[in-house]
Order: sequence, then structure tokens, then C-alpha cells
Amino acid sequence: MKKSAAAPAADKQLVMIVDDEPDMLLMLKRVVTRQCGCEVILASTGLAALRELESCRPDVVVTDIKMPDLDGLHLLKKITELDKTISVIIMTGYGTIEMAVQALKDGAYDFLQKPFDNDHIVRVIRYCLERTRLLRDNRQLQEKLDDLALPQGFVGQSPALRKVLDLIARIADTDATVLIRGESGTGKELAARALHELSNRKQHRMITVNCPALPEQILESELFGYSKGAFTGAAQDKKGLFLAADRSTILLDEIADIPVPVQTKLLRVLQEKEIQPLGQNNTIRIDARVVASTNQDLEARITAGEFRADLFYRLNVVTVKMPSLLDMREDIPLLVHHFLERYKRQHSRPELLIAPEALQFLCQQQWPGNVRELQHTIKRAVLLAPGNIITVSDVCIADEKSDPQRCPEDRMLKLCNLSYHEAKAEVVQQFTIVYLRQLLSRHQGNVTAAARESGLERQAFQRIMRRYAILSTDFRGDKLGG
Ligand SMILES: Nc1ncnc2c1ncn2[C@@H]1O[C@H](COP(=O)(O)OP(=O)(O)OP(=O)(O)O)[C@@H](O)[C@H]1O
Ligand SMILES: [Mg+2]
Repeated sequence: MKKSAAAPAADKQLVMIVDDEPDMLLMLKRVVTRQCGCEVILASTGLAALRELESCRPDVVVTDIKMPDLDGLHLLKKITELDKTISVIIMTGYGTIEMAVQALKDGAYDFLQKPFDNDHIVRVIRYCLERTRLLRDNRQLQEKLDDLALPQGFVGQSPALRKVLDLIARIADTDATVLIRGESGTGKELAARALHELSNRKQHRMITVNCPALPEQILESELFGYSKGAFTGAAQDKKGLFLAADRSTILLDEIADIPVPVQTKLLRVLQEKEIQPLGQNNTIRIDARVVASTNQDLEARITAGEFRADLFYRLNVVTVKMPSLLDMREDIPLLVHHFLERYKRQHSRPELLIAPEALQFLCQQQWPGNVRELQHTIKRAVLLAPGNIITVSDVCIADEKSDPQRCPEDRMLKLCNLSYHEAKAEVVQQFTIVYLRQLLSRHQGNVTAAARESGLERQAFQRIMRRYAILSTDFRGDKLGG
């Protein structure tokens, strides 16, 4: 066992190379130390590597397959049991290709056939170093998220969000009417759900009324119900939503849009705690907790005579003001991680990671549509990102839509925030993906033909396809034009 240094510097990543050929170890150590800017640790057998793994956690392990004591496949298994974020590259010699294929199935990132080109191994190791870094960032965010213990659905730890969640927790188990205010997409409905879930009414279903969706007449009969014959078309008695919300919570979503006559009736319900279905003389007592939400300037609506001031005061016993995403900007990484995990699962893209530059880009945006807009941006990136890493261009598609002319230049300008090497890598990646997809599309998914036209070896072509998660089946005839 030989080490290049006693212990890796804290900020340096670590590559472990395992091979029983001393010359190979020395050659790789020289190349990797010089060109990957990381620490290197060497092990001459599989067992020696395992012993070393007890005390250090490399980012990348490059291992031979055939070794006397413990072979590469078994070492790979032990490594994945120990820490799934370590990227493993398998080196294969003559006659071990089948084992290498098995290694890929078992979770190795890539395999390299000996003898290999130094530039190639450097590229693969660099990619793996980045991959491990992203996986570990991801794991850290997940651990943070697991520790937060927030009401169902909420993510974030900014003071602005904490303050509002504290208020929700304090008032949830009271009967106080609550007015939830905030810009569009800030989580008003989520807050209403939290109020309900944290109350002793939670065993009953919360009723949500989307006020603007219903015309005046229908809104009134939906809210308060009616009896048979109350109006033309009332063929039988109908229970209103207030009655359905008895002993539960009723959310009047977008309350500002309720017509004034319905406002008057609502005021009576809030004052008297009873409803009178249309066409009935008697009233019914109701125990429904009322929560209302709006993103509008209710005070201005009152001044304009469009909203009753007395209803406003009745609703506004407690105000919960949801923060805009800009007020909780520090929560963006956690939110991105949360949505990314959700959509990766939903769309079966478990390998997908987000590049730090893309995350940084998301943290700098204005987000007029708040959390919902961020959520949609991540969903779109998961659906459309061509490679396994979400890059800046995958999350700036919204700009492209709003002004298609400006976007190519914008994209270039955004690249200028990166270092030269990062920007170049980004452009090369974009180009490679478009290039491969074009060729595969032209040859209807026939990899041999596409590789021939590109002038690359079939194997090399396939390796690049795998790196960017490009599937030949996506280009087969039956999928085209669909
Ligand atoms: N802090 C948060 N953590 C996780 N998800 C959130 C958060 N805030 C909002 N969301 C999500 O954002 C989306 C929009 O939230 P919601 O519908 O509650 O917003 P809203 O304020 O009612 O919007 P609108 O005014 O447009 O009706 C939902 O998918 C919700 O789950
Ligand atoms: Mg809403």
C-alpha cells in the first residue's frame, strides 16, 4: 500500500486506485494527480482497498477486475454497501468484458478497457468526481430536510417561513377565522391545509371552495344548499358545502372575487354560525371553521365598494401572510432538492443531479410566480434535461419562451458567469447531446450506422450515449413523429 499523501487536504477530492500491477498504479497515480487536481491513494489488492476504506472515504474508486484476493466485482459490492455516493470505475483487461457489464449492472459508473488512452481516463474520473460531489451535496440537503419536521408539504427553514409556520401552529387548534394573504404561488392553500391538519378537526375532510370558478347563483346554492323546488331545475334537496364542512374546515379560496350579495350572506353565516338553504324557512346550525385566502389588495377593493368592510373584519380575525419566494430566498436550494426528488421519482430519472451553477442561477432569479413557478421549472427540467446533470440551460427555458430572439445570447451571457473551463464543458455537453441525437434520429436509433457516420467507434459512441442518458430506443421508427 502506498499513499501519495498522509491525508487528503480537506478541500481536495480523493481518488483511490486499486490494481495488482505496480506499473499501472504508478502510471495512473502520476496522470490523475497531475490532471485531475485531486489526492490519490493506491491499493495493490482488493482486501487492502477494503481496509483503507474503513478509515477514508474516497470520491472515486478506479479498480481492476481481476485481482488475487478480492476481485473488482466484490469490491464494488462492498463499496456500494458502504457509501452509494462513491463513483466506481472498473478497469478491464482481456477476457473480462462480461464481468464489466455485470459491474455496470451492479452500480459501477463506467468501465475502461485496457490499454486505455490517458485523456479518456482523466475525462471519466473528472466526471465521476463531479458526480460524487453532487451526490454528496444532495445527501446533505436531504439530511437537512429530514431534520426540519415541518407541517405536511412545507419545505424551508428561512426566518420568514419559520415565523409564519409558528403562527399557523399556534392558531391551528382554535376556531378563529383566518385570512391567508400572499402573492400567487406562495403556498396559501398549503397553509390552509396545515391549519386543518394541525387542528382537532383533521379527522373530517376539509372543504375547499374555489370562489372565482363559480358564477354568483351557483356559488350561493353550492355554499348554502337548497331544497327541492327552490328554483327551476332544483329537482331535489342539495346539501351545501358549509353543511359538508360541519365539524371540519372550509377554505374559501380567492375570497376577493365573491359577488357582494353572496358576501352579505356569508357575513350572516360568520355572525350567526347558521345557514339557511335556498327555499327553506328554517336555519341550520353549523360548526365550520372558516379559512379564507386571497392574493388581492382587499383594502383597495373595500375602497372601490367591491368588498364589504364588515365581512373583511369578520374574516380577518387572524391574518397569515405567506412570504414571497424572494423573502425566503435562502430556502431555494432545499425547495429545489425537494421538487427534484419528487419529479425524479415520478418520471423515473433516478440518476439526475443538478449542477451547482444551475442551482446558483435559480437562487438569483426574481420568481414572480413564487414557489409554484420554481416547482414548474424543476419539473420541466426533469422532463427535458437531455443529460444526467441539470445545467443552467435546462432551467432558463422560461426566458426563451418569453423572448425567443434574445435567448441564445442570454444563454451565452449566463455562461460568462462560469469559469472558462466550466463554460466550455457546458457548451461541449450541449453540442454533444444535440449532435448524437441528430445522428440517431437520422438513423432511426441504429447506433452502428450513427457511429459510422460520426467517424467514432461504436463503443465510444455508446459510451457517450450512456453518459448523457441517450437511449437509442427513443429514435426507433415507432416513436418518431409521436
Ligand atoms: N414552502 C413550501 N414548500 C413546499 N412546497 C410549497 C411551499 N410553498 C408552496 N409550495 C407548493 O407550491 C405550489 C403552490 O402552492 P399553493 O397552491 O398553496 O399556492 P397559493 O398561494 O394558493 O397560489 P395561488 O394564489 O396561485 O392560488 C403547491 O404545489 C405547493 O405545494
Ligand atoms: Mg391557491
